[in-house]
Amino acid sequence: MKAELERIIKEALKRIERAQTLQEIERIRLDLLGRKGRLTQLLRGLKDLPVAIRPEVGSAANRAKAQIEAALKGRTESLPPPQERKEDLDITLPGRKPWEGSLHPLTLTLQRIIEIFYGMGFELAEGPEVETDYYNFEALNMPPDHPARDMQDTYYLGKDLLLRTQTSPVQIRVMERSKPPVRIIAPGRVYRHEAINARSFTVFYQFEGLYVDQGVTFGQLKGVLTGFIEEFFGKGIPLRFRPSFFPFTEPSAEVDIRCVICGGKGCSVCKQRGWLEILGAGMVDPAVFQAVGYDPEKFSGYAFGLGIDRIAMLKWGIDDIRLFYENDIRFLSQF
Ligand code: DAH
Repeated sequence: MKAELERIIKEALKRIERAQTLQEIERIRLDLLGRKGRLTQLLRGLKDLPVAIRPEVGSAANRAKAQIEAALKGRTESLPPPQERKEDLDITLPGRKPWEGSLHPLTLTLQRIIEIFYGMGFELAEGPEVETDYYNFEALNMPPDHPARDMQDTYYLGKDLLLRTQTSPVQIRVMERSKPPVRIIAPGRVYRHEAINARSFTVFYQFEGLYVDQGVTFGQLKGVLTGFIEEFFGKGIPLRFRPSFFPFTEPSAEVDIRCVICGGKGCSVCKQRGWLEILGAGMVDPAVFQAVGYDPEKFSGYAFGLGIDRIAMLKWGIDDIRLFYENDIRFLSQF
């Protein structure tokens, strides 16, 4: 029996020594000291031994038990805690950064626009996105059969109700409720029933500018727009005013800037022209003043309209307007 005890201890110590995991140690403990464990059974058999040797074998067995328990405890403590074992933890992995939100590029562009025009004394104005035919067209000198209505494919919501195709109706709303001098910019969303592609989307952003007072001139309009473009795109960028037509301004102009992508050499963005059209403008048509009850003999004014998406695309070299509306985090997180 003593020999058996010695074998048990020797084997046990060897197994404990080699054990690598807590599970293995638990397994060894059960094999020896569990209810059906080898040592437990041996201790149970003590009672059948002759009385003469029982005490000696008994105490040897108890020492063996204590020795094995101590060895199990020692090995358990020398093992690394489970979650820090080498195979689970790679301390060379980069940490996980918490997500940080950023402003949408159109919001950033709008903020910059507002900042620049605030600096030139303009105030902010707003109007509804659901407009009436009167504000979106008629008061802007586009009566029902006016051919210029075809320039903007409109989403109608009813006979007289529509999604505004431009921010110009805000001009009318502001003039109706205030007396000159009026100096506002009105940014906002506009809608057009257009085929969707890299250059046009059914929703986009514009902002409108309007200045009305006594003696306002086209020269002042040129000055304000030149100032804005230089602030926004950088000093010294060449621009040109081209005669154009809008029903609500007379005379009207379109403004081009030297292509910011190719610097004027010609590329796909400027369609090899070297110039990019970025805004429409002009002197407020007397018919518009009449619609809001301003005396065209006494007051004059200028107005301009500009696509926010368009100048954001030019500023950052973005070649597809749809990126603004897809909300792909990989795109948005660059701003
Ligand atoms: N509303 C015009 C458009 O959407 C842009 C525009 C042109 C606005 C000339 C103006 C302006 O105020 O004077 O195409």
